[in-house]
Amino acid sequence: MTRLGVVLSGRGSNFLALADQVRAGSLTAEIAVVISNRPEAPGLTAARERGLTAVSLPSRGLDRETYDRQLIEALRTHNADWVILAGYMRILSAAFVRAFPSRILNIHPSLLPAFPGLDAQHQAFDYGVKIAGCTVHFVDEHLDHGPIVMQAAVPVDPLDTADSLSGKILLEEHRIYGAAIQRLITTPWEIQERRVVFTRSTL
Ligand code: GAR
Repeated sequence: MTRLGVVLSGRGSNFLALADQVRAGSLTAEIAVVISNRPEAPGLTAARERGLTAVSLPSRGLDRETYDRQLIEALRTHNADWVILAGYMRILSAAFVRAFPSRILNIHPSLLPAFPGLDAQHQAFDYGVKIAGCTVHFVDEHLDHGPIVMQAAVPVDPLDTADSLSGKILLEEHRIYGAAIQRLITTPWEIQERRVVFTRSTL
């Protein structure tokens, strides 16, 4: 069984959606460990409540390289095959990216390459886009930049606020993150330049 190492900083709703999909059998992986750089993250408490291995690894006061070495160690200790960033609000060092080549995924609440960085949903709303969305992508050493695995579009309704739009995007995040992981662990794929190509694709 593929072992997922989930890394988060906050609420953890994407992690919980993955945990639900694992439980339902639509995601045929196991959550090996949930790690948070913020000890008070609700996602960490939720992981403990579900009986999952939850590790608090505070990042406060540590430089990126030092912290990332600890994070690599914790993920290796729990034999994580894939690193699943789920609302992890720190930039990863190049050493971390090299430690798990083509095995780190992130979910971002915009149609990348539009609106990288913080508060992407608000950025998109304020910009006035008619179609917002979310992206599952491989992580490289640049922010919100690696090859795209899956995206979902979310039309902006004239009555939407930034908050209502964020809620609609979040529902799509919950849907496509597990779907993207399931596809990657069950279907042959390769990365050609920037393109993630499913070599026995039906889509
Ligand atoms: C999600 O919207 C996720 O896409 C975003 O943080 C939120 C975490 O929510 N991530 C980023 O913006 C990364 N650049 P969650 O803790 O409820 O999963």
